[in-house]
Amino acid sequence: MIKSPDAIAIIGLGNAGLPLAAVAADSGVKVIGVDLNEERCVRINQGINPIPEEKGLEELIMLHGGKSLLATPRFEDAKNCSTFIVIVPLFVDESYSPDFTVMERAVRSLGRILKKGDLVVLETTFPPGTTDTKIRAWLCESSGLEPSDFFLAYSPERIMTGYSISRLREFPKVLGGTDEESGFRAFQVYSKFISNLHLVSSAKVAEMIKVMEGCYRDVNIALANELYKICEEMGVDFFEARENANHQFCHIHLPSTGVGGHCIPVYPWFLIKEMERREEFSRCRLLRTSREVNDEMILYWAEKIILECMKLDKPLSMVKICIKGITFREGVKEFYHSRNLALARLLSEKGLDVYAADPLLSEDMVKSKGLRYIRPEEADLIFDPFELRLTVAGGDSTR
Ligand SMILES: NC(=O)c1ccc[n+]([C@@H]2O[C@H](COP(=O)([O-])OP(=O)(O)OC[C@H]3O[C@@H](n4cnc5c(N)ncnc54)[C@H](O)[C@@H]3O)[C@@H](O)[C@H]2O)c1
Repeated sequence: MIKSPDAIAIIGLGNAGLPLAAVAADSGVKVIGVDLNEERCVRINQGINPIPEEKGLEELIMLHGGKSLLATPRFEDAKNCSTFIVIVPLFVDESYSPDFTVMERAVRSLGRILKKGDLVVLETTFPPGTTDTKIRAWLCESSGLEPSDFFLAYSPERIMTGYSISRLREFPKVLGGTDEESGFRAFQVYSKFISNLHLVSSAKVAEMIKVMEGCYRDVNIALANELYKICEEMGVDFFEARENANHQFCHIHLPSTGVGGHCIPVYPWFLIKEMERREEFSRCRLLRTSREVNDEMILYWAEKIILECMKLDKPLSMVKICIKGITFREGVKEFYHSRNLALARLLSEKGLDVYAADPLLSEDMVKSKGLRYIRPEEADLIFDPFELRLTVAGGDSTR
């Protein structure tokens, strides 16, 4: 156990927590990482990087794992720390309401080792207001401390898997306290390992900043998707129009099969649900519509694929279709809310002869998603959802 009270504890060494822990350790900070996954802790302490797709992380884990970055499954091992950063997941249930089960468990475990004067910083994306309400209440209940006995702040994680190290080193990171002193103390600690740090007026503002970013992306992707469909209807080349439309004050995003992953399709719901709870339905019409537009893009693509199949000299049910990419985004092996996977399943449900392939996935991994595998070159029609390209075997491709 690291005895130094200067050591910071990071609760959750997942895709977001581990890069943060590694960057902090690389800046000379002693870090104790607490993660329930024992096997992951053992590997980190052996200097083995458990997230190979994360650029630059391997060298940092090799250098610091088991030394200035110590991983442990026991909260007790971090009890001498005076700063605790929590970054475990917040899921949403089937109706997109936040499910705090994992978060509450981690926060209550932390509460049991929390001391008077300690600082706790949350990094998980939250519905604005969560840190100062739910988190504070759980910490008080589990520690027996009064609300004013500890410092509490929030700093959203703004990484992107694959680019986390450079994001942490270069991208602006915001931070807000639940009161002035908490913000100030958190700023002092984070300054040791984050160079582009911005203190905002409250934890709630910092929480809103991250949710706003997700909403901005979702709405703009919905706009791009809608313009793409309109351009097609009007016989206009969307990509040519977009290239020339974009300038300093206009940034049309790229169209897609929809929006997947744990972040962008989820965060607008934090605000939609809150407005619904307050019966302020008219305040979130755009957010709700954007969600619908993006989620329904798979219907548009399914129709396009079927129309293309019908041009081939084969009965529709015998056209071998390959969806070339089923992860939610290119370059990551993640499927959460993957619209590409949903598209492949939708076409299967319609009785078409659908297969999948993915540059990142083995045949077995494709099959584990309930889909049949095919080498793209063996299919009659290939749809590449990352390029939005339809290719007929031995023929032309269209966008
Ligand atoms: N991954 C990203 O790209 C990303 C980007 C921005 C924000 N975030 C935020 O980070 C949060 C966490 O995401 P992630 O990708 O790191 O998740 P993850 O699933 O990769 O990792 C979470 C880790 O927390 C550990 N854990 C769970 N419960 C615990 C507990 N009670 N005590 C200790 N450890 C516990 C798990 O074992 C796991 O290793 C997300 O909910 C999101 O708000 C993630």
